[in-house]
Amino acid sequence: MSRVVTVDHPLVQHKLTYCRQKDTEPWKFRDLVEEITALLLYEATREMPVVNIELETPVSRARGAVIDGMEPIFIAVLRAGLGMLSGAMRMFPGARAGHIGLYRDHDTFLPVEYYCKLPEGIRERDCYLLEPMLATGGSAVHAIAALKKAGVNRIKLLSLIASPEGIMALQQAFPDVEIYLAAIDEGLNEKAYIVPGLGDAGDRLFGTN
Ligand code: URA
Repeated sequence: MSRVVTVDHPLVQHKLTYCRQKDTEPWKFRDLVEEITALLLYEATREMPVVNIELETPVSRARGAVIDGMEPIFIAVLRAGLGMLSGAMRMFPGARAGHIGLYRDHDTFLPVEYYCKLPEGIRERDCYLLEPMLATGGSAVHAIAALKKAGVNRIKLLSLIASPEGIMALQQAFPDVEIYLAAIDEGLNEKAYIVPGLGDAGDRLFGTN
């Protein structure tokens, strides 16, 4: 069964609490989502290999360590994943980004793909899927299936909030994909929104309704 890491650091919980609050303005919400993503990524990249280097400080010679290997790839699930992408790219400015466009059918709640653009070199790099709300898990499962079809092997999922149902769906479909979260909520309502959640992440980011 895949590993589920809930990052319960006080900073993450503080920022998530303001994201949940319904009167938090879109500009503030965007900042908070970026910051939480950077903190989730901090945990998710803990095992990244480093290489030791020698360098000169203004004072003396020194030894340091830099990340070894290729920069990761971030895949944003449109549209709410865009809010996480800017936070992730700030941590890894040389990273490449892909986009998968999915919308939920209003009646079936099943994901329908309308766009998929993945960067070159995706097979050889660590891939982080950015999906803020792991609700039914349908979108994440669909996106991961698309990544696997493109030959990606090393995938981690970063979400702000998950429902127990979403986690179970993902673990059943892809037991090899680790999940990094800020919180696991109670469940889903009849419209498949996470309760208590934070509402529609795309609307909260972009001020739509
Ligand atoms: N997507 C959202 O943006 N919010 C939810 O609660 C569920 C899916």
